[in-house]
Amino acid sequence: MNGTEMTLLALFILYAIALSAGLMRAGHRARPVLRADGPSDAPRNRPARILIVGATGGTGRQLVAQALERGYVVTALARNPAKLRIAHPQLTVIQGDVLDQAAVEVAMRGQQAVVSALGHKRFFWPTRILSGGTRNLLHAMAACGVRRLVCETSLGVGDSAGRMGLYYTLFTIPLILPFYFWDKARQERIIAESPVDWVIVRPGRLTNAGRRGQLRHGPQVGNWLWTERISRADVAGFMLDQLVSDIYLRAAPGVAW
Ligand SMILES: NC(=O)c1ccc[n+]([C@@H]2O[C@H](COP(=O)([O-])OP(=O)(O)OC[C@H]3O[C@@H](n4cnc5c(N)ncnc54)[C@H](OP(=O)(O)O)[C@@H]3O)[C@@H](O)[C@H]2O)c1
Repeated sequence: MNGTEMTLLALFILYAIALSAGLMRAGHRARPVLRADGPSDAPRNRPARILIVGATGGTGRQLVAQALERGYVVTALARNPAKLRIAHPQLTVIQGDVLDQAAVEVAMRGQQAVVSALGHKRFFWPTRILSGGTRNLLHAMAACGVRRLVCETSLGVGDSAGRMGLYYTLFTIPLILPFYFWDKARQERIIAESPVDWVIVRPGRLTNAGRRGQLRHGPQVGNWLWTERISRADVAGFMLDQLVSDIYLRAAPGVAW
C-alpha cells in the first residue's frame, strides 16, 4: 500500500468512527434512572386490537401471523395489500402509505397498540421515511388515544452504536447505509422524546430462519467484533411480548440469538 492509499484508508476509518459516534449521539441513549424499584414485569392489560406497520415486510409478515396466532384483532397498514398474502377473519388490511397522515389516522382508529417493522430499500440517498412515518404514527396515536408503540430499529444506533460488529461499523453502515442509519437514529430520538409508552427493539442481522423461541435481549446484546444474528420470526415474537410486559418500557433492548 502506498502513502496515498494509506492516507485514504485512514480517512475512511476516521469517517466510519465519526459516523458511529454521530449515530450514538443522534439515537436513543438510556439515561441512568435513580429509582429503588426496577422495571416491572407485572402482567399489564393485554391490548385486543393492534395496528401493524410494515406488515408486508419480512418481520411484518411474521408479526401479522404470530399476532393472529395469539388471538389479537389485527389491522395491517400496507402500501400494497396483495403482498401480505395472509387472510384471516381477525385481520383487516388498510391500503395506505405511512407518510400519508390521513391514511395513518384511518388505520389508527379503534386501535389499542401499534407495532412497527417499517423499513425500506432506498439506501443511497437521504430519506426521512422511517422518522417521518414514525412521526405520523405518533401524531395519530395522540389523536386516537393509543398509548403503546413497539418499534423495530437496529443494533448500531444510539447507545448500541458499534454493536453490529466490525464489518457493519467499518464497511456496511458507512459505505451502504449511512443515510438509512441516520434516519433510524432520528426515528429513535422522535420515539424516545414522545409521551407514549414505547419499546424500541434493536435486532442484530436478520435472517429468514424459523423461530427458535430462545434469544438474548437487553442493553448488552450485540458485539463490537462480530455480527450477531436473529430470525425475523424471533424478533416478531419478542416484539409482541412487549405488548404485555413493562420490563423494557421506554427502553431499547438489543435482541440476538
Ligand atoms: N436486514 C437486516 O439485517 C436488519 C438488521 C437489523 C434491523 N433491521 C431493520 O428491521 C426492520 C425490518 O426489516 P425487514 O427486513 O424485516 O423489513 P422489510 O422486508 O424491509 O419490510 C419493510 C416494510 O416497511 C414497509 N414500508 C416501507 N415504506 C413504507 C411506507 N412509506 N408506507 C408504508 N409501509 C412502508 C414495506 O412495505 P412494502 O412491502 O410496500 O415495501 C415493508 O412492509 C427495518 O427497519 C430494518 O432496517 C434490518
